[in-house]
Amino acid sequence: MEIIILPTPADVARTAADAIEDQVRRGPCVLGLATGSTPLGTYRQLIERHRSGGLSFAQAQAFLLDEYVGLPGSHAQSYHSVIRDEFTASVDFGPGAVHGLDGMAADPESEAERYEARISAAGGVDIQILGIGTDGHVGFNEPMSSLGSRTRIKTLTRQTREDNARFFGDPAEVPEHVLTQGLGTIREARHLLLLAMGEAKAEAIAAAVEGPVAARCPASALQLHPHVSVLVDEAAASRLEHRDYYMDTFGRKPAWQGL
Ligand code: PGA
Repeated sequence: MEIIILPTPADVARTAADAIEDQVRRGPCVLGLATGSTPLGTYRQLIERHRSGGLSFAQAQAFLLDEYVGLPGSHAQSYHSVIRDEFTASVDFGPGAVHGLDGMAADPESEAERYEARISAAGGVDIQILGIGTDGHVGFNEPMSSLGSRTRIKTLTRQTREDNARFFGDPAEVPEHVLTQGLGTIREARHLLLLAMGEAKAEAIAAAVEGPVAARCPASALQLHPHVSVLVDEAAASRLEHRDYYMDTFGRKPAWQGL
């Protein structure tokens, strides 16, 4: 994993947007999109680059990481709506280019299989944006998820439901179940961008990056991936033991290398 510690959340957003812009400008590609607060700054950057920098998503496809079970796509907090409102409707993806899981599917297991098949048919994900939960989840792979898991239904932990209650009027409205790409699915994306900002994520980032690979911290499974860029602000990096080494190596990284 390459750990990149940046001064502020705005620097994290800009650096992540640079990597995505680079991918998109190279030609047709498949983006993996995450929801939650973490990638919002990155999406704002990309919208701005679309509006004023001619960045076009017309040749790109996108796949969402996860979705709440029981919320129709029209619900304001369904990830289908959130990604449209925060990002995709403000740029120029083609019709049908943004794919998500159907949280209202009568048969969630078939829905999960169908989703995996669609990702494969698109050629796999080129670059995947990831946030991290305070409990170390990525996507909605809660602690003790199989490190080889595929897209499936999961039950949210109490912690995650509390963390996400801020998006709902009443905490009791946070769904209990979700459909999520598995850790095995996520690890097939060619380049992973794991983003984290703020002190609340510091412990999860330290466990993910410097802890053992263990199901109790699902993000630690990313250590097995050959190309992960971990972009963190100073606060999210505050529990990293090898901070100086990461700063030193990034400071001396050749400019041609990119992320
Ligand atoms: P957040 O969530 O970006 O809203 O902090 C991250 C996550 O739960 O994966």
